[in-house]
Amino acid sequence: MGKNTIQTLRSSFKTIWRLTKTNILKTNKQLLLKKRPIGLPDNDTWKLIETAVSEIEEGEILIKCEYISLDPAMRGWLNDVKSYIPPVQISEVMRAGGVGKIIASKHTYFKKGDYVYGQTGVQQYVVSDGKGYHKVDPTLAPLPMYTGTLGMTGMTAYFGILEVGELKEGDAVLVSGAAGAVGSVVGQIAKIKNCKVIGIAGGEDKCKYLIDELGFDGAIDYKNDDIALKLKENFPKGIDVYFDNVGGEILDMALSRLALHARIVICGAISQYNNTSEVKGPSNYLSLLVNRASMKGMVVFDYAKDYEKASIQLGQWMMQGKLKSKEDIYEGIENFHETFLKLFSGEKLGKLVLKVSEE
Ligand SMILES: NC(=O)c1ccc[n+]([C@@H]2O[C@H](COP(=O)([O-])OP(=O)(O)OC[C@H]3O[C@@H](n4cnc5c(N)ncnc54)[C@H](OP(=O)(O)O)[C@@H]3O)[C@@H](O)[C@H]2O)c1
Repeated sequence: MGKNTIQTLRSSFKTIWRLTKTNILKTNKQLLLKKRPIGLPDNDTWKLIETAVSEIEEGEILIKCEYISLDPAMRGWLNDVKSYIPPVQISEVMRAGGVGKIIASKHTYFKKGDYVYGQTGVQQYVVSDGKGYHKVDPTLAPLPMYTGTLGMTGMTAYFGILEVGELKEGDAVLVSGAAGAVGSVVGQIAKIKNCKVIGIAGGEDKCKYLIDELGFDGAIDYKNDDIALKLKENFPKGIDVYFDNVGGEILDMALSRLALHARIVICGAISQYNNTSEVKGPSNYLSLLVNRASMKGMVVFDYAKDYEKASIQLGQWMMQGKLKSKEDIYEGIENFHETFLKLFSGEKLGKLVLKVSEE
């Protein structure tokens, strides 16, 4: 055995002894970005590895991640382009929001046993100095809900429709991606504000869900309906607010049906995220001029200082039975790839969540 091998073994034994002594010997499963995808990610995009959990130092916490939020935005983070946030680097743990329990703490604010939400990444354990994490209360709402309606999804819907969309009572509102995480909350908030709400979703079942379960006034099945005709029927006086989650042709069709002083909220463009050709831009944009309308992009992080206010309001609406939250939960970090693809195939309802370790 060479000198170097003996040294490596000695240092590994030392680490294991140190971890055993502190009683936190854990194996961490981590999902790394292996290769930047072109188009829809394939199984070779990611690599699952196992590492030892490192011992925490003064000022740090060890979080056991329980639920990971799966978001369409993650597709954008894989591209090596300038955006509102830097791309995930090759061999880095895939970025993701998540909720988990603090199982060891040398931190003055976060204590062992606290539950927190933050950018955990797709992994089972994370050591952190606590920056960017906030406490959540599992006795008030189930943990997965803090990745959705009571988390970033809810914040996006709340600030997107109320502030960017400048929603007013009585507005005629159109929402795309309506049976998804953000869209379903947007539509329900607009109903709470006494607006007429029409959702766009893929398939009869999702459209039925929007009307029967969430109280939308109508739904358009973009996979089977004549969208332009349905928009004409549902918006005889035009659309006051269009909350766009999908972009592409649906955005273009909504543009051709605007009311005077309409507002379009550009929240996302999921129909374009896996494009291998150019992003399809709207050709009907002169409708903005004719209708003195506006089209504005948003990034939820800009509203961070007001998250607390929004969470309280969303929580109150839920307690009053005015706002429903639906999480679609899958299990196993090994199943990340297949589960992630459900965002784009639409084989899910509400907020897509992956359970990565036992509670
Ligand atoms: N700007 C921000 O700060 C911010 C924050 C969060 C999310 N977002 C964006 O908001 C949008 C919605 O996010 P989410 O978390 O609510 O995701 P999600 O809606 O839960 O999932 C995406 C849904 O989009 C629909 N979809 C997929 N491909 C489509 C296509 N080609 N055409 C039309 N619909 C399609 C699918 O439903 P169907 O079965 O109906 O097709 C799918 O369920 C995304 O574009 C996301 O990037 C933006």
